Amino acid sequence: MSERRWAIAGKTLTALAVLSAILIAIAVVAMLRTGVSARTGPTKPETMVARTMRHFAVPAAARSMPNPVPLTPAVLAEGRAHFADHCAVCHANDGSGATEMGQNLYPKPPDMRKQSTQRLSDGEIFFIVKDGVRLTGMPAWGDAAGRDDQETWKLVHFIRHLPAITPQELEEMKRLNPVSHEEAEEKEFLEGAHETH
Ligand code: HEC
Repeated sequence: MSERRWAIAGKTLTALAVLSAILIAIAVVAMLRTGVSARTGPTKPETMVARTMRHFAVPAAARSMPNPVPLTPAVLAEGRAHFADHCAVCHANDGSGATEMGQNLYPKPPDMRKQSTQRLSDGEIFFIVKDGVRLTGMPAWGDAAGRDDQETWKLVHFIRHLPAITPQELEEMKRLNPVSHEEAEEKEFLEGAHETH
């Protein structure tokens, strides 16, 4: 590289360093002002930085990985049942994130029907579900040794299907959602009351 090019590269790096320092300073000031409460949402730049970092945290080869599980109605049904059972507490059956748990998390689960999620590649969604997202409520679901990768790929099919989910599917999912302790007690009580009559 010529000396001139080195000078340009050096200036670009300095500019980037200064820009990062400014962004970090803004984030720190924002954090000091809002505290560490989970009630508010992250600011736009925070979300952008976090999503960009997450994007690059998934290795390029993994990001471009196609879904190896062929899409069939049975595969979609399995993904749907799995989602209703394990994911809907935070993400809601329709993927909107409108649940009690979801709305009080920081950051909140995004509306997965929207472009910001649907734009992610299959490989990227797969890795997010398998490994989780650090410093968020999103847990790692996959077995690190990959024994349940097939199940995770089925969930990827289901997430892709969210924008087109039907009322019938949502009705079916309601029956597959885990029952809370209170609901179970209420059901037991009602059934018990029924028996004594
Ligand atoms: C305890 C709550 C919780 C549960 C349960 C949960 N998630 Fe999440 N999930 C989150 C949160 C919070 C985020 C947002 C993380 C972030 O901002 O990067 C998230 C993000 C995601 C994303 C990334 C979406 C995007 O656009 O960034 C996907 C995909 C996802 N979850 C799928 C799943 C699947 C599939 C399951 C079930 C196997 C599941 N999640 C269970 C809380 C949860």
